[in-house]
Amino acid sequence: MSGILALGAYVPQRVMTNKDFEAYLDTSDEWIVTRTGIRERRIAAEDEYTSDLAFKAVEDLLARHPGALEGVDGVIVATNTPDALFPDTAALVQARFGLNAFAYDLLAGCPGWIYALAQAHALVEAGLAQKVLVVGAEALSKILDWNDRATAVLFGDGGGAAVVGKVRPGFGFRSFVLGADGTGAKELYHACVAPRLPDGTSMKNRLYMNGREVFKFAVRVMNTATLEAIEKAGLTPEDIRLFIPHQANLRIIDAARERLGLPWERVAVNVDRYGNTSTASIPLALKEAVDTGRLQEGDHVLLVSFGAGLTWAAAVLTWGGA
Ligand code: ACO
Repeated sequence: MSGILALGAYVPQRVMTNKDFEAYLDTSDEWIVTRTGIRERRIAAEDEYTSDLAFKAVEDLLARHPGALEGVDGVIVATNTPDALFPDTAALVQARFGLNAFAYDLLAGCPGWIYALAQAHALVEAGLAQKVLVVGAEALSKILDWNDRATAVLFGDGGGAAVVGKVRPGFGFRSFVLGADGTGAKELYHACVAPRLPDGTSMKNRLYMNGREVFKFAVRVMNTATLEAIEKAGLTPEDIRLFIPHQANLRIIDAARERLGLPWERVAVNVDRYGNTSTASIPLALKEAVDTGRLQEGDHVLLVSFGAGLTWAAAVLTWGGA
């Protein structure tokens, strides 16, 4: 069985608070905290991009687990804000760390990191890779419309990285649930090559989101995907030691928590400090849980995410076993 052998994460130095938005937008700290749970977020420096955040996350992984990159023969970077259309950001990571590895980016909205974990798991199980470096990194601040109060206040920058490889029996990934519904494409987009979607919806070159629709979708898929992943893993919600949901909105997290019947002590939350960091959201929270001792060897962990596409993903793993 495969699982997570090493973990690292990074957030940029610059903190942007809700008060900073009050200074130039028609919004308030009170509105943002009540509606989203976000208090502050990290913003990349002017010349800091997704590859830089990915490098720093991998450097953190190496500092915590020296030698962890030995035997890595694949790199996947899940991101919605790659430095370029091509080369892929994963190739930049491969070069930076001198890895003898294949490398590709994976673009699937915020669940991209869970999608990438699933692919790494499948590659290892199929014998196509020995170890895969799975990065989730975003410089979302570069694609926000800073004058759109409905989106600017929600997002932040960051990166996380994990090495996926074989673990001892009884540990590692137990289930994955992956899904997409492209009929919701127009609810959350950012134009790149084409100025329109196939249905004719014209897109702007900045992040656009229909918050209300995405909210309803999120609550629905968080419930169904989590329950499906738990069942596939042969467990019940009570078996879940730590629930790590996508950090987009505290109200969405609370709805999922309630549906699973889990107390807050079993839920990872950092949306208050980082906002929505898309593909970096889950690895950042996972690393924090390990660092604070909330996650111990043998604990069952539930991950879930949703986002642009629209897409969703959930996974259950038994922590440890390296
Ligand atoms: N400050 C003050 N008022 C605001 C702000 C703001 N920052 N943003 C919106 N408003 C206003 C709206 O204009 C609206 O005013 P109106 O009634 O006069 O039109 C009012 O607040 C209520 O707007 P709603 O959209 O109904 O507010 P809601 O309670 O739904 O909260 C939010 C909005 C926070 C965006 C919520 O819908 C949400 O979290 N949706 C899900 C977003 C999400 O999780 N996205 C993840 C996508 S990840 C990815 O793949 C990139």
